[in-house]
This record gives sequence, structure tokens and C-alpha cells, in this order.
Amino acid sequence: MTATVVTGLLPILVYFWPAPPKGQSKGPIKVTLDKPFDQLEDGTATKILAPTSPNSAFIMADGGGDNQAGELAFGGYIVKQGGDVKVFAQNCSHLGCSVSFNQDAKSFDCPCHGSRFHIDGTVLHGPAAYPLAHLTWKKGQQPNELEVDGLVLGF
Ligand code: FES
Repeated sequence: MTATVVTGLLPILVYFWPAPPKGQSKGPIKVTLDKPFDQLEDGTATKILAPTSPNSAFIMADGGGDNQAGELAFGGYIVKQGGDVKVFAQNCSHLGCSVSFNQDAKSFDCPCHGSRFHIDGTVLHGPAAYPLAHLTWKKGQQPNELEVDGLVLGF
């Protein structure tokens, strides 16, 4: 009886819990900067991109709106402000378009529907109602390197 139930349920369980795609692996993604990490300017943002060889993505640590912890981002920004460093995903919390850094206004601006974010990631102007998502990171082994939590996509 038990064997019959297990045999009957197995295809359903495999459907709902498929194996991860072949070659996909979580781990720190190395990002190399143009200059040493300690020389990044205070009060500005530096764009980072997930490597494409192998094809990779960063994993959001938190989120709100269209962003949620565990979702993927293909780029982000390192922000140094008052000596404090944060790394944000580039995805707008409204519907996920990529924000860009406005050097003059010191804000992140979304081209899709006009949302803007303060340099600390909080909302400056809607329709976005939630801040930018954080990425989990640490300094790398080289002075111009950092490691961001991410996923090698395996394709
Ligand atoms: S996706 Fe950014 S404002 Fe709509």
C-alpha cells in the first residue's frame, strides 16, 4: 500500500520540486572594479554588472514591491555615503526596470514610469512604494574586488 502511494505521488513531487538546472550553483560572484574599493568616492554610486562568462546573476537580500529576497538582478550599484557602503540591485521596485544613477541629483532614476530613489535607496518619488533591494556582499581578496551573493546560471 505504502509503495503504491509513493509510486503514485513521485511524478507529482518531481513536478513541484524539479532538480535545479544542470550547472546552476549559488555562491559568491566576484566583481572587479576599475579602482581599489577604498578609493570609491563618497556620495556617489558605482555601477556593477554580473559576469556573463559564465552567465551569472546577483541574488537580492531583501525587497518590496516587484523585488523580493531571493530574486535575481543582473546589475547593481555600490554606494559609499559617509563612510558606509551599501550595494543595491539595479531593479526598480515598481515593475523591475533598471534604474540609473543621476550624478547631478544624487538619485537613482527609473526610465519607465518616473520613480526616483535617494542615494540611500529609499523612495524619493513614486510610483515605486518600496526602496531598492540590497545585495549581500563582502570585500574580495584583491583591493579592487568584491564578492556579491549570486548564482551561476549554467547556460
Ligand atoms: S518600473 Fe520603475 S517606475 Fe515603473
